[in-house]
Amino acid sequence: MRLSDRCSYGALLSLIVAFGPSPANSYYLPGVLPTSYKEGDKVPLHVNHLTPANSPSDPQVRSVFSFDYYHQAFHFCQPSGGAKQLSESLGSILFGDRIQTSPYELHMRKNETCKAVCREQTYEPRDAKFVNQRIEQNYNLNWLIDGLPAGQLKHDPNDGTNFYSPGFALGAVRDDKPVLNNHYDILIDYHQAGPNQYRVVGILVEPRSLSGSKYINEEEAECGDDSAPIVLSETGDTNVLFTYSVYWRPSATPFATRWDKYLHVYDPKIHWFSLVNSAVIVVFLVTMVTTILIRTLRKDIARYNRLEQFALEDLSGTSLADEGVQEDSGWKLVHGDVFRPPKNPLALAVLIGNGAQLFMMAGFTIAFAMLGFLSPSNRGALGTVMLLLYTLFGFVGGYASSRVYKFFHGEKWKQCFVYTPVALPAVVFGTFFMLNLFVWARQASGAVPFGTMIALVCIWFLISVPLSLVGSWVGFKHQTLDTPVRTNQIPRQIPPTSGYLRPLPSMLLVGVLPFGAIFVELYFIMNSIWFSKVYYMFGFLFVCYGLMIITCAAVTVLMIYFLLCAENYHWQWRAFCTAGASAAYVFAYALLYWVKALSFGSWTSGVLYLGYSALISILFFVLTGKSCPDRGMPSCSTNAFRQVPLVSSHHGCLY
Ligand SMILES: *[C@@H]1O[C@H](CO)[C@@H](O)[C@H](O)[C@H]1NC(C)=O
Repeated sequence: MRLSDRCSYGALLSLIVAFGPSPANSYYLPGVLPTSYKEGDKVPLHVNHLTPANSPSDPQVRSVFSFDYYHQAFHFCQPSGGAKQLSESLGSILFGDRIQTSPYELHMRKNETCKAVCREQTYEPRDAKFVNQRIEQNYNLNWLIDGLPAGQLKHDPNDGTNFYSPGFALGAVRDDKPVLNNHYDILIDYHQAGPNQYRVVGILVEPRSLSGSKYINEEEAECGDDSAPIVLSETGDTNVLFTYSVYWRPSATPFATRWDKYLHVYDPKIHWFSLVNSAVIVVFLVTMVTTILIRTLRKDIARYNRLEQFALEDLSGTSLADEGVQEDSGWKLVHGDVFRPPKNPLALAVLIGNGAQLFMMAGFTIAFAMLGFLSPSNRGALGTVMLLLYTLFGFVGGYASSRVYKFFHGEKWKQCFVYTPVALPAVVFGTFFMLNLFVWARQASGAVPFGTMIALVCIWFLISVPLSLVGSWVGFKHQTLDTPVRTNQIPRQIPPTSGYLRPLPSMLLVGVLPFGAIFVELYFIMNSIWFSKVYYMFGFLFVCYGLMIITCAAVTVLMIYFLLCAENYHWQWRAFCTAGASAAYVFAYALLYWVKALSFGSWTSGVLYLGYSALISILFFVLTGKSCPDRGMPSCSTNAFRQVPLVSSHHGCLY
């Protein structure tokens, strides 16, 4: 089986991961039922926002803003009576979609050549300048026909396959001049599902620049030629006629697999390499943790059993020390302090609560996506599900935070109840709002509409907050977790820590491993965000997520073990921060990505990019911090044989 063969690859993937269907499987999900058209039926064409992209001659992305299709400077033709906004899901709006109707007339299986979209449009110098800039920044038009994006045919030289890449160019730079595309050849693949039943299964648009086109009437136009392409003058008015041709091509692709040609994987082997790589790290770490545990525990248990025997037989005259029961050393010395509450227990509890909420949200979202519920044809489903799950898991957040807070013997209960549902959303909303100001200032369309913002606040306040409060209440009512040892009255002195055990080095050291488990997937996710590629490798993402969690847990347990061996019992914050430190690597990676793949024309783009990267890093910090053990340690108790440590499967960590 050739790995590069996408179809068999998809099958292989779902086989290996042993779950659910890849997009190639033929069953229909709610909301994406096939639409059949009869011959001559009108097939609506919808337009979405314009997005920045790269081009063959210019591989870097130069902007982060997207623009409304009917931004007046573009002078794109509107349907008679004005364009109408299509109702979309919350997730789709949040991810920037602004889908509207268009004047294009497509009829099933009716080929047409050279039709005018509307009458000639006049570009004044100011608009011309705006459009020329967008052309130089490689902006793409995004059309949707029957939910399928109009794409460009691309070729992957690695495996010699052709695939459809969503979006097509607004214009091109030729001989240092921005050329506007004013003619679109629309090639639509259709599949015959039954007698007089046709379905749209693929769309390609080949844009061109034709000068000298003439408007005849609504049905006809005379297309010019591309010998002298259209360049918008920045000193005088330019008239442009927009035209299009439609060609319907029969295709053997059934409706169920129509997305396959859009979901091209550039280098599938890379995913496997990274997966194997992370798996090796995980196996290594887990072996290390278990060896340490088993070794120390076996010794301890043997020793304490002997101790008990002594007590039973009451062998007076023999000193225990002679029998090898020496002074405790290392981490056993701090047993009386190890459950001493940390500094700022409230902040830690709130962070852990929020982390648990994010953790659940991310895990379930990826699982849903992997099972195929969030196929790309369900526009915005990913965003909507993320939002929904985050809201619902408010309960988990509240529960975790109050449970932990109780364990820390916290007393500021009101604050704990209130801060847990507020903390992270406040940070996210705040950042979003600030960044939105920039987007608004640029008149770009990426800004989340005010109504949507209100809706989000309502959802959060009416559902998420109450759920979190209920969770907190339940956690509060639960009994405090038992500790195997009592905490001493007087805190032990901590010897100065040195070397890699100091906070910063330990964080940098530990953080790199979870990051290592995900950075390849991160690269693909970044590509899908900034280069508008469709990301669908959720099987891989799921495995990576699992590996990342195990890495986080194992590496934190190790670090804390060494910390306790150095007789430092301030481990709670350290545990959170060391795993969370991988967020610093994520941020650094985002910067590197900026240098390599992006090159912004304006500082506002940079600010926006940094803002979003920082936000993602913060979320990641909270998430990974959470997945490290936040409770007990490998039995630091002297009565180890009574309290054999519970190696539970809680995130693969130790209670
Ligand atoms: C429409 O054009 C396509 C592409 O040129 C061609 O394959 C197809 O046969 C044409 N259909 C009709 C009905 O003429």
